[in-house]
Amino acid sequence: MSVRRVVAGNWKMNHGPAEARRFFDALGAVPSGPRVVVFPPVVSLASSVASAQGVELGVQNIHAAESGAFTGETSASMARETGAALVLIGHSERRHLFGESDADVAAKIRRARAAGLEPCVCVGETLEQRRAGRLEEVLETQISAALEALDPGAPYMIAYEPVWAIGTGETATPADAAQAHALLRERMRARHGEAGGQAPILYGGSVKPANAADLMDADEVDGVLVGGASLAAESFRAIIEAA
Ligand code: 13P
Repeated sequence: MSVRRVVAGNWKMNHGPAEARRFFDALGAVPSGPRVVVFPPVVSLASSVASAQGVELGVQNIHAAESGAFTGETSASMARETGAALVLIGHSERRHLFGESDADVAAKIRRARAAGLEPCVCVGETLEQRRAGRLEEVLETQISAALEALDPGAPYMIAYEPVWAIGTGETATPADAAQAHALLRERMRARHGEAGGQAPILYGGSVKPANAADLMDADEVDGVLVGGASLAAESFRAIIEAA
């Protein structure tokens, strides 16, 4: 069975509530076919919910606890209540800039599951790790920790985002993406059986309208997670059309 394609946009710390509304007004209704997801900043979630048409929404992060004295944090259930259906977990910026470990990622996955949010778990190697020949080992460690916490009975997605390709203009080739995705798929199947064969694996890292179709044609690439090119309605729409 083929996996339904996914085009997801991660706005990172861009687009406040008014800009989010302008984006979705400009995007309009999205073409039918792929699942389209946007992860706005949490403060722009409500205006995104009010203005998005045919787009699923998610948050970029949650805290692992249900509630409590965690100044500045957002809980999974609050995100759900505000209209999020999905959550990004373990984005490389969270791992590398905010020191999140595989154990943190696993705890957040469990919390997302409890709140009914679909996790989109990000994995990927740094340039240093790739050059040292550690691609397989790094992906293996990250995906194993994630699969341990994920529920094969509930929907989830994995995003392969090589750190060296994020925001750099450098893109993995379709062959690079296919190689990493094959490894992830093998682990997902081994651990989760049929469910692991069907959860989408997205590629992320400098995806643009010009390279999106080639990347999505690569084996086991079920969609894309787009940063910079998801900020303008026109380029995001072009990527959706490529899917
Ligand atoms: P860019 O598309 O800007 O490289 O960002 C990728 C990314 O990190 C998406 O989560």
